[in-house]
Amino acid sequence: MSEPVGSPCVLLCVTGCIAAYKSCEIVRCLQRAGARVKVLMTEHAAQFVGPTTFRALTHEKVAIGLFDDPEDPIHHISLAQEADVVLVAPATANILAKMAHGVADDLMSTTLLATKAPIVVAPAMNVGMWEAEVTQENVRTLQRRGITVITPDAGYLACGDVGGGRLPDPWRVADLALVAAGTTGPLAGERVLITAGGTQEPIDPVRYIGNRSSGKMGAALARAASRRGADVTLVLGPASVEPPAGVACIQVQTAAQMLDAARTAFADATIAVCAAAVADYTPARPADHKLKKSVEPLDTVELVETADILAELSRDKGGRTVIGFAAETSEVVAYAERKLATKGCDAIVANDVSRADSGFGTDTDKAWWIDRTGATELPCMSKTDLADTIMERAVALRHAH
Ligand code: CTP
Repeated sequence: MSEPVGSPCVLLCVTGCIAAYKSCEIVRCLQRAGARVKVLMTEHAAQFVGPTTFRALTHEKVAIGLFDDPEDPIHHISLAQEADVVLVAPATANILAKMAHGVADDLMSTTLLATKAPIVVAPAMNVGMWEAEVTQENVRTLQRRGITVITPDAGYLACGDVGGGRLPDPWRVADLALVAAGTTGPLAGERVLITAGGTQEPIDPVRYIGNRSSGKMGAALARAASRRGADVTLVLGPASVEPPAGVACIQVQTAAQMLDAARTAFADATIAVCAAAVADYTPARPADHKLKKSVEPLDTVELVETADILAELSRDKGGRTVIGFAAETSEVVAYAERKLATKGCDAIVANDVSRADSGFGTDTDKAWWIDRTGATELPCMSKTDLADTIMERAVALRHAH
């Protein structure tokens, strides 16, 4: 098997269903998350999307027939062995039935029988076929054998019916496949807490004090940790990102709620990464009615400091590894070194938020990694790559503990 972290190899099995066109987007999502993708399709699937499309997207040969590759007479075995995870998306009722009963009569079903890699299936079909007793029985059989079955979404189906049977969002399918690929990764057995997003501190029912945060970095960290096998809890304040699939997400609004949720998750955690942009002040007495400027001027709202979640967790860290962030606009390393010392964490990721390509809402970050051994300048990179770098360094810190 290839190395599960870095660029896991995903074997995407596409079966004959109208949702097969969505598999192209799933390829893209997997690639954006750093995976190498190979596509195996049934002959029926090739009626919906041509192999040329997948070949162009993956830059890899597309496998269809058992005897198509003259150089590899046991193609099903090599495909089965190469994969870190096998994802069947969309999965028809037919492939579910074959898998449940060990039928091996074409390249896909023989490969699925031969592989030792984790298997994830994303069924998509007409609601009647999905709800049929025999399909549900087959799904239960697959789940009993440890196969991850992604429940289809409900909604309008291609056949005009309304109900369960739609292939879920491609990102969700890709995330769950990568989580399955990471179960043997270097963070297997670790429980990772991540705080992310901003917080909103109510002044009255319509106004709040808050910090800018898209939550993108936190979501990328959650993905990077779960892809390495960790059990991840994401404590997420108001943000514009969707929490990744396969991650436990607790949504909060205020700094006090974030502290509560973080403390609870921290009790069981082995690693904590505080990426949230927590508001530093909160109104001492939020009003229960909308304040009228002429009667109760807003410039007299009394503020109190919020608890420093990173410092609080670091104080009780015991054998845990705690990593914080520093958002700075000048003297980035000097301020971050000071934060490392005063907050008592193991490392700080210092982010230069004065740059157009770094910080709030951008897809890239210019950062420094600062720990007890010193500061390391990192090149400007995507938040996904930075999250991977942080998790690799977290693994190293765990080993050093
Ligand atoms: N942090 C926190 N709770 C707070 C404030 C900050 O957990 N109430 C955490 C952030 O999640 C981040 C680190 O502390 O990991 C540094 O946050 P930052 O906003 O850069 O610094 P501050 O502590 O707010 O200090 P300053 O405003 O002086 O830069």
